[in-house]
Amino acid sequence: MPRKKVVLRVNGRQHELTLDANVSLLYALRDLGYTDVKNGCEIGECGACAVLLNGKAVNSCMVLAWQADGAEIVTNAGLGTLDKPHPIQEAFADAGAVQCGYCTPGMIISTKALLDRNPDPSEAEIREALSGNLCRCTGYGQIIEAVHLAAARLRDGQPAVVAVAPPTALLKGERVATPGASLTGERAAESLRSPDGPGTVATPRASLTGEAAPKDQLLRRGGDRR
Ligand code: FES
Ligand code: FES
Repeated sequence: MPRKKVVLRVNGRQHELTLDANVSLLYALRDLGYTDVKNGCEIGECGACAVLLNGKAVNSCMVLAWQADGAEIVTNAGLGTLDKPHPIQEAFADAGAVQCGYCTPGMIISTKALLDRNPDPSEAEIREALSGNLCRCTGYGQIIEAVHLAAARLRDGQPAVVAVAPPTALLKGERVATPGASLTGERAAESLRSPDGPGTVATPRASLTGEAAPKDQLLRRGGDRR
């Protein structure tokens, strides 16, 4: 296999690599430590691996690393941090749009691309923009709500307010604000340890950025396609 020299510019950092020509951008990014870019299917069907490539959302499993040579790549973790999340990440947490969090980084990337080109999308436009992102947990209603919320906040410049529901809400089936973690992609288990004590639900910052989630628990259709 021929090898290629590639410069990947990710979240403002530059990486100079020599890679086999058939290495996907997904593998290159994860090998560099950008594990907020999730590996869900490797065949372009789930959207978990989405990144912004020169401002456009792409499935990184369907792009060869050398094709991204010199391009500006932004992952979900490049949009915001746990201390200073992006309004889209915060909206996903506030709307309860994050459960396991595995799909969340890709959802947020697709949302970012949508709102950059259309600050006030209709529900149909949101559904269309997220049609390539699969979620096995939330049922999509809260995700659509999160995109509406993020769009409104970004348009109005409203400060993001995070409302955390008490555990009793869970018993009543009410919506619970969530997972900072899921927004960033970290391990959702962190959400179980609330630093705020009883009466609050600590959440998933990690999932927001997209880290963790054991690979062996993922649906892998098509096997290793490197
Ligand atoms: S679309 Fe790339 S991992 Fe599923
Ligand atoms: S797959 Fe979407 S939150 Fe779990």
